[in-house]
This record gives sequence, structure tokens and C-alpha cells, in this order.
Amino acid sequence: MVKNRLDPIISILNGPNLNMLGSRQPELYGKETLADIEAACRTHAATLGLAVEFSQTNLEGELVTSIQQCRGRAAGIVINAGAYTHTSVAILDALLAAEVPAIEVHLSNIHQRDSFRHHSYVAKAAKGMICGLGSHGYILALDALARLIKGNAEA
Ligand code: DQA
Repeated sequence: MVKNRLDPIISILNGPNLNMLGSRQPELYGKETLADIEAACRTHAATLGLAVEFSQTNLEGELVTSIQQCRGRAAGIVINAGAYTHTSVAILDALLAAEVPAIEVHLSNIHQRDSFRHHSYVAKAAKGMICGLGSHGYILALDALARLIKGNAEA
């Protein structure tokens, strides 16, 4: 499908260690690689009339910069901040400053895991959070953003 230059941009941001998907604790995170997830997101976004930017970084500051760059440019953010979810006030502040609707995604169900994973700084700035559904969470997040962007959602 030819990409429409006017399609709203969704920035899909991935944090530390997510480049290891496929080999990293597959019993928790599944066997798909991040490239597999990116391909599925691109295919699905095209059906929704959304343009996708997809990135991964192991560095907190780079994630902050990527979030800042969404302001006034991206229509939505899908973010799996990995372990920074549970530690980073800087990422929370960047999301609040960006003023772009964000959906938080985790492959695993963080509430069934270590207690330090139960708290999310990202959640304070996110419209919603999807966890425990594996890579399908990214697809659901795109659906949620498409709905929010069209103004059909309540929230
Ligand atoms: C994760 C959950 C985090 O607690 C963990 O640090 C990750 C992955 C997930 O997708 O389930 O790196 O964000």
C-alpha cells in the first residue's frame, strides 16, 4: 500500500533490552523478535490509515529525546519503556511535556511479577495501559490511538 504523507504519525518507542526479544526470556516475552513486532505494527497501522515510526534504545536520555520530538508532530505514542517504566521520572516528565496521547504497552503482565514492576511512572501520563497480552498489545494500542485520533473515544 502506498503511504499517504498526510497519515497521522504514531511513534512506537521501545526501551532497554527490547532489542533482545526473541532470545530474551521467551517464556515471559515470547519468541517474536522486535523486528517481527515492527512488521506487524506497520501492516496493521496501514489498515488504520496511520504512519508508523518505530524505534528502540537502551538509553534513558535517548528515549526522553524521542518523546520530546513527538510534540507537535506525532498524533500518538505507543511506549514500552521496559525497566525505565518503573524508575524514570524523566520519561514521565517528557510524556507530560509532549502533550501527545500515549498508550503504555508491556508484553508481560507486570502486575503478576516482582512488586517493583507493579509501579509505573509512565502510567501517570498514559491514556491507557495494556499488559500481559504479548505483542498483540502493540496492535491493540494502535487500535486505541486510531479511535482516539478520530475522536470516537469517550476519554
Ligand atoms: C516489560 C516489563 C518490564 O518490567 C521489563 O523491565 C521489560 C519488559 C514488558 O514488556 O513486559 O523490559 O516492559
